Parts: sequence; structure tokens; C-alpha cells
Amino acid sequence: MAATILRICLPLVAFILNSSILSMAIPLEPRAAPLTKSLLLSLISNVNSATSASYSLHDSLGQTMDTTKILQAPEGDYLAVYHSLLSTDNKFHASIATSNDLKSFVFSAGFGAGTSQPTVALAGDGGYVVAWEQEPNNHIAVRYYPDRAHLLAGTATKSFDAPMTLSTCAEGTPSIYSIQLNPDIEHSVIDIGGHYFRDCQVDRQQRGKLVNFSSWTTAPRPEVDAAVEVFGVQGNIGDRDALELDDGSLVQLNEGQFTFGDFGSWRVYLYDFGSGNAERVNIQTRGGSTAFANPSVTRIISPSGRDAIVVGAFLPSEGAAPGEAGQLLYYREF
Ligand SMILES: *[C@@H]1O[C@H](CO)[C@@H](O)[C@H](O)[C@H]1NC(C)=O
Repeated sequence: MAATILRICLPLVAFILNSSILSMAIPLEPRAAPLTKSLLLSLISNVNSATSASYSLHDSLGQTMDTTKILQAPEGDYLAVYHSLLSTDNKFHASIATSNDLKSFVFSAGFGAGTSQPTVALAGDGGYVVAWEQEPNNHIAVRYYPDRAHLLAGTATKSFDAPMTLSTCAEGTPSIYSIQLNPDIEHSVIDIGGHYFRDCQVDRQQRGKLVNFSSWTTAPRPEVDAAVEVFGVQGNIGDRDALELDDGSLVQLNEGQFTFGDFGSWRVYLYDFGSGNAERVNIQTRGGSTAFANPSVTRIISPSGRDAIVVGAFLPSEGAAPGEAGQLLYYREF
């Protein structure tokens, strides 16, 4: 009898232990150092010292995973949102995939034709918020999924399409700074970054708030533009992704293009909200690629259980070393 109970119970105990370890995401070792700006820079600047790096990332359907943003799911695995230009209709399609190792990604669902530049965040109530750039009338779209099942099926239960207030031509590349529930998504504040096509001539930064999933207000962020323009950037300043450091301060990776229309001139900058200054992130790759766009950055527990930073960047063929064009994804443990 006891032996039978044991046989029945052991897998259950193992399962419970396993799921609680995953959901609590306990690092296996004490952290070596607090995550400061200089540590962050050293972790992300050299792809050759990454714990793992993948060039020209594709999902299980063979679709490219351009502009990948990673989020760690509470279950312990990883979610990726990205887009692919599909030859069937020559349109961008954003998708979501899952991964256990940040190397292979299993396609789960698509968000439809004309969706690109997606980002994803935990809503704080077990749900997820995904934002992307939507065509036609290139604008920022925000969607809410009440749980993982809805997210992985691509079935949103709340939708908001932001009116274009800063450009008559295009607004997009959303990133999510924070989601505040008061106490639920119907009564919430979602802080969203994006770009607007200023005077229909060049992309510049904006940051806005979606209140109660129904009311959108936004404004240009010329101070962020100026910090990047200092380096001689005269083309687009578009996509970005923010990260909170251990002292509570906020930084973000920003893409900046030296010359409008020159895809080989995309570079990555680290903007510091505290100082208002940016610095160049000089990313070293295996073959010496020079152009990097659409940076994303997420703090995670690595597949082997350590604190880590995962970075995504799109390497346009115009500035990519042989074999490196497309989506780069790498993480470094610390
Ligand atoms: C959002 O909801 C709160 C609580 O119901 C309300 O006080 C506030 O006026 C709403 N704001 C907007 C912009 O709808």
C-alpha cells in the first residue's frame, strides 16, 4: 500500500517541486555583481563572449524571426515575438513562439497580415500585453491576452489601435515600459514607447500612455533624439527597448541610423534616463558585422538557471558579415 502511494506520489512531488522551482525562478548561485550600466554594457557588447548566440534566427516553420523580443514566461520557458516577411502575400506577419533553450523556437500563432515590430510584456494579472506596428495606416496596435493559452493561440480579448496624433504618415515600433493595473486591465495605465515619422521625413521618438485600454495620449521625446543625434545620427531613430538596473534606474537600447535610407548605417545606443545621455554600444560579432537595428533587451534566468541578459538585434544585409544577416539573438549569464 505504502509502496503504491509512494509510486503514485513521487512523480507528483517531483512535478510540484519542479514547477515551483520554475515559477519562483530562483538563481542557482548567488549573483556575482549587481546589474549596473557598466556591467550591462560589458555583457552585451561582445557577442563572442556570450553564453550562447544564434545568427539568422528562424522558427520551427522556417520563418525568419526579425526584431525578436524575448520574455520569460512564469512557467520558466521563453516566449518570443517577431515578424517575418512572407512571400505568399509580400506582407509582414508577426508571430509568437516558445523556447526552452533560446536556440530553437516552436511557432505557436501568428497575429495576422500587416503586423510587424512586436513586443510583449506580462500584464501582472496572469495575462499578457502585446503591441505591434499595424498596417494599413501604419500605427501602434495594442492587444491583451488574459492568459498563456489565449496568447499562444493569438486570441486577444481586448484591442486598441492608437490614433496617429504625431505623424500623418506612420507611427510604430512599440516597446512597453510598464503596465499598471488599477486593479485590472479595464482600469490600467500602459506606458508605451514608439517612433513617429516626423513631418513624413524621418523617424523620431515618442512615448505615450494607454489609459483603461481606451484612451491614448502621447508626445515626442526630443531629449532622447538629441542624445542620439549627438553622435551624428541624421537618419531614423526608431526602435528601442528599456531595462531596469538593480539600483532602480532605467536605461534603454535605441537604434539610430546615420544616413536616411542607408540600412548599413544602423547603430545601437544605450540611453540613460538618469543622465539624459547616450553612449554607443559597439557590438562585436564573430565575423565583424557593422550594422545593427531593432535592439531588444530582457533580463532572464538562463536555461541553466543563472541570471542573464538576452539581447536581440536585426543585422541588415548591407552591414552584415557573411552568414550573419538577419536576426541575432544572444544571452550572457552573470
Ligand atoms: C480610467 O478609469 C478610472 C477608474 O474607473 C477613472 O477614474 C478614469 O477617469 C479613467 N480614465 C480614462 C482616461 O478613461
